[in-house]
Amino acid sequence: MRITVVGTGYVGLVTGACLAQVGNQVLCIDIDAEKVARLRAGEIPIHEPDLPEIVRSGIDGGRLHFSTDIAEGVAHGEFLFIAVGTPPEEDGSADLRYVLQVASDIGKHLDQPRIVINKSTVPVGTAEKVRATIQAELDARGAKIAFSVVSNPEFLKEGAAVGDFMKPDRIIVGTDEEAVAQRMRDLYAPFNRNHDRVLVMDIPSAELTKYAANVLLATKISFMNELAGLAERLGADIEHVRIGIGSDPRIGFDFIYPGCGYGGSCFPKDVRALEHTARELGYDAPLIRAVESVNNAQKQVLERKLVEELGADLQGKEIAVWGLAFKPNTDDMREAPSRTLIDGLRRRGATIRAYDPVSMTEAKRIYAKMPEISFCEDPYAACDGADALMICTEWQIFRSPDFADLKRRLRHPLIIDGRNLYDPRLLKAAGLQYRAIGRP
Ligand code: UDX
Repeated sequence: MRITVVGTGYVGLVTGACLAQVGNQVLCIDIDAEKVARLRAGEIPIHEPDLPEIVRSGIDGGRLHFSTDIAEGVAHGEFLFIAVGTPPEEDGSADLRYVLQVASDIGKHLDQPRIVINKSTVPVGTAEKVRATIQAELDARGAKIAFSVVSNPEFLKEGAAVGDFMKPDRIIVGTDEEAVAQRMRDLYAPFNRNHDRVLVMDIPSAELTKYAANVLLATKISFMNELAGLAERLGADIEHVRIGIGSDPRIGFDFIYPGCGYGGSCFPKDVRALEHTARELGYDAPLIRAVESVNNAQKQVLERKLVEELGADLQGKEIAVWGLAFKPNTDDMREAPSRTLIDGLRRRGATIRAYDPVSMTEAKRIYAKMPEISFCEDPYAACDGADALMICTEWQIFRSPDFADLKRRLRHPLIIDGRNLYDPRLLKAAGLQYRAIGRP
């Protein structure tokens, strides 16, 4: 099949590369000429496991192509994916400018029937706006061409995006047209495992499903974080409680890990966007509001614990921070808890010695003009002479460190762990003071 993907960000690039991997002819379009040039050379702008290999394989096999020319894109693909960004506005709503610009470009160049597939995360009602925008362009030039707009939201996890695309739990297809639903089933047939994963529904339901999934997952996390605060005050250990409730299959073990708050490009943005949609409709959605406010508070928890130990004034203190990415296996630092922590530490006058296994380049870009942050070669060096070690991301390499070595290096033997990585008994035995989330 011939497929065009507009937007080579996270979702677009993974979609294009995976569709090419199963044998389709895929053309990826981006307005950023430099990015397109780099992609043509097989250079991947993001850190994502397995992505470089499949992009390279697509390019070498002549199945995956890149261009800045949207007209070429519209001519190429029988399926036209829209996978451009929907950055949040000040009020939490999604900025649809880029999505609608692509729709308008499609309308300008459309000269034969096409299926337009929206993969960007967009508020309910956007597919209709995309349809109206394309139609207006066709009307403006008196063209009568049939086209369909499908909502096909993405459920990729960063760090596991290729695997998620190749082996999806479900493929949501929003369309009212039976023939279009069949073409979408054909398109996704290579990704069915054991049984058909395509779920066809009306367009608004498909659009809402994406938000429902992300906001429910965020709700589980915020609930656990709130409970962790309660556990601390009750002398209970949230890790026992987590296992105790997770064994109930109705609850399950996924997404009930307490921590220093959720971050990333999806949860914070989607929770705010759904909250904004409810507000716009005049519908009171207190639960969704609470998910966000609990998370905002949770991102302050590490700093609060440090202040309880070292006092409010951190002038002259050096703090080691392990983990800058919002989660392991990515270099993405968008809305990462580490950023809230680092901002707080800087305001209190501390200097920061940071280490992350992959997001150092990204961190150096973000903190370019801030001399109070230094970046260390390895996790142990970050602890040399530090007044505390604070952990923001559960990277594998942090899971079993040499505690005796840490004790020797730290000026003050304090570890504040935002991801509950360690057994408190081991740290006590090593002579380290240990504070975690929701643990006595
Ligand atoms: C998420 C959804 O999982 C994915 O389906 C959707 O398409 C995009 O948003 P992602 O943002 O890549 O994916 O990361 P995810 O693994 O879901 O983690 C999000 C945040 O929640 C991270 O900051 C993570 O540390 C935090 N988290 C996750 C917890 O604090 N506790 C948990 O139990 C799980």
